[in-house]
Amino acid sequence: MEKYVIKGGTPLFGEVEIGGAKNAALAILAAAMMTDEPVIIENMPDEADTGVILEAMEGIGVEIRRLTRHSVRIGAAHVRDCTIDNEQVKKIRGSYYLIGAMLGRYRSAHVVLPGGCNIGLRPIDQHIKGFTALGARVSIEHGMISAEASRLTGSHIYLDVVSVGATINIMMAAALAEGKTIIENAAKEPHVVDFANFLNSMGANIKGAGTDVIRIRGVERLHGAEYTIIPDQIEAGTFMMAAAATKGDVTLRGVIPKHLESISAKLIEMGCQIREMDDVVQVIAGRRLNHTHVKTLPYPGFPTDMQPQITVALGVASGISIVTESIFENRFKYVDELTRMGANIKVEGSTAIIEGVDRYTGADISAPDLRAGAALVIAGLCAEGFTTIEDIRYIERGYEDLDVKLRGLGAQIERVDTERAVQKFRLKHYAA
Ligand code: EPZ
Repeated sequence: MEKYVIKGGTPLFGEVEIGGAKNAALAILAAAMMTDEPVIIENMPDEADTGVILEAMEGIGVEIRRLTRHSVRIGAAHVRDCTIDNEQVKKIRGSYYLIGAMLGRYRSAHVVLPGGCNIGLRPIDQHIKGFTALGARVSIEHGMISAEASRLTGSHIYLDVVSVGATINIMMAAALAEGKTIIENAAKEPHVVDFANFLNSMGANIKGAGTDVIRIRGVERLHGAEYTIIPDQIEAGTFMMAAAATKGDVTLRGVIPKHLESISAKLIEMGCQIREMDDVVQVIAGRRLNHTHVKTLPYPGFPTDMQPQITVALGVASGISIVTESIFENRFKYVDELTRMGANIKVEGSTAIIEGVDRYTGADISAPDLRAGAALVIAGLCAEGFTTIEDIRYIERGYEDLDVKLRGLGAQIERVDTERAVQKFRLKHYAA
């Protein structure tokens, strides 16, 4: 099994290029099958989750042609059936976008229930509420969710919770429904806006994405398009936090600084300098971080997908910090692993009380989920000694070449698959 082995203690320095947003890509790739005409997607991140969605689509007859590592041509003129049931799809959360896409286009979708990171209950009741309001019959049987409609009609939908997935899924079905749909209490995340821009580039009529109220006027058909996915807010934020925690100086290229404001604001409170230029953000740390308080919230609040990374950085900051998780109820599982590295963190319900320690100590740990896994990599980078991280398949679901990019910043990290390789790494870096 592949793992990362890290020799910590080296501040990160240099430049890193940020890739396309995973959570935008999953929705955009699925929606690309809502037309007969070819769709070309650029800046697609090459990670495990995007691969799973593309394979699932290929399985029902969608023609997938990889043009380069980061661009793909999708042709959905010959879809055979609307049932997607495979083991891989079961594991990813974003597979729920296949339901909205097929329901919108074919009025029929049967998809194995979505899985994803085990970070809480993660119900899909708001997706179902939206589909039902548009006139679909939705049922869940034997681990499959089925949505069928003879016709879809626009509706006024008030989401009970702000949900990224439900907002996007309802946009998909409503884009090809008859009449007007209004989504109230909609999610405002950058990838919701990116998704709406993409559907509009295919001929949809969506207004208000990025605000609480999204208005969709259904159109009869969508057409082909060429579209470039926005940069990944969370990949960028992860590198920003890694720069801060290792007391480094890192320049991120190809980002949208506006999307990173909540993260930049916290880093400034923690004593970092942030410089922003066009599509570039530089994080300069240089000294021990200050404590602060953080609460995760829907956009434009501090993202839940950055909660583990900032907790790791605060774990080695001076003083006591408090981190409150308000989106997912089970997102502190990694704290046990961090404690084994010497962190002093007490979790009570949805709050972590962090008493900063001088440094972490390397340990053999496992990644419990995607973002927590990335956070533990950051812990390893600033720890004294060697850290090995198992179960990196979780991390690879959502980060492309994390180890390669970190090495580019001077980190001592390798992806290895044998115990011998771990020993070789240790020998090579022992005296270093
Ligand atoms: C998306 O998950 C992301 N996943 C998550 O990223 C991210 O953490 C989350 O949005 C919040 O930003 C994908 O895009 C594939 P939600 P999603 O629906 O859509 C509750 C990562 O690491 N809720 O916005 O599942 C839910 O339980 C992953 O990249 C309902 O109650 O999140 C949660 O408390 C992890 N009923 C809150 O809403 C519903 O029907 C927000 O969830 C849907 C959600």
